[in-house]
Amino acid sequence: MAVTIKSQREIELMRESCRLLGIVHKELEENIRPGMSTHEIDIMGDVLIRKLGCIPNFKNYNGYPASICVSVNDEVVHGIPSKKRILQEGDIVSLDAGLIYKGYHSDAARTHAVGEISADARKLIDVTKQSFFEGIKMAKAGNYLYDISNAIDAYVSQFGYGIVRELVGHGIGTALHEDPQIPNFAQKRKGLKLQAGMTLAIEPMINMGRADVVWCDDDWTVVTQDGSLSAHYENTILITEGEPEILTLY
Ligand code: MF3
Ligand code: CO
Repeated sequence: MAVTIKSQREIELMRESCRLLGIVHKELEENIRPGMSTHEIDIMGDVLIRKLGCIPNFKNYNGYPASICVSVNDEVVHGIPSKKRILQEGDIVSLDAGLIYKGYHSDAARTHAVGEISADARKLIDVTKQSFFEGIKMAKAGNYLYDISNAIDAYVSQFGYGIVRELVGHGIGTALHEDPQIPNFAQKRKGLKLQAGMTLAIEPMINMGRADVVWCDDDWTVVTQDGSLSAHYENTILITEGEPEILTLY
């Protein structure tokens, strides 16, 4: 599928889709506490997305059974919410959420602390978030796509963390996943030239240990092979001639 350049009207719709998703993430963040199940988080997110007049785009996506991906500790992404999975003090939990507003998709992820967490876990979360901001410093018209990938890699590599390679960021618009794919690790080529009007989901997934990941038997949950903690940070952004607009921030 080709890379799409959004019209002014489409950009307005993307902005609204993403603004609403920012509200969903804010609400979820405020409600996370030890003792709750990952299923409760999914229900809370699903109800809120629908209350906002939107559709959860993850639900039934390739058969994914929930509206919010909830991934705990060594789970990297696509954790399936469960009534049996109870958040414990000291866990880290990655919430990935998306919605459709008037046909336009938004997508964002954050990793949160459950109660008090270790200094090492805090640092992983902070570095993962900062790697997104390092990456998007390069995200402007006239630069190349892999400038973003290279900037994320250069920043994360200083900390000795593993950058997940099997999963990547992506274009987004009338579909959740549009071209291009956006790796979070260094590339030898330049990639396509960025143009104003592209909307991209940039989403570094960073492991405290090695980069390797494996898929669980549920065929969704991705975990670190070495059992180390993993964090995820994602926003949908708009490429402009100047600084990118981060559309999914609250
Ligand atoms: N945010 C995820 C992504 O960018 C979407 C989750 S896929 C789903 O690919 F199937 F779990 F919905
Ligand atoms: Co995404």
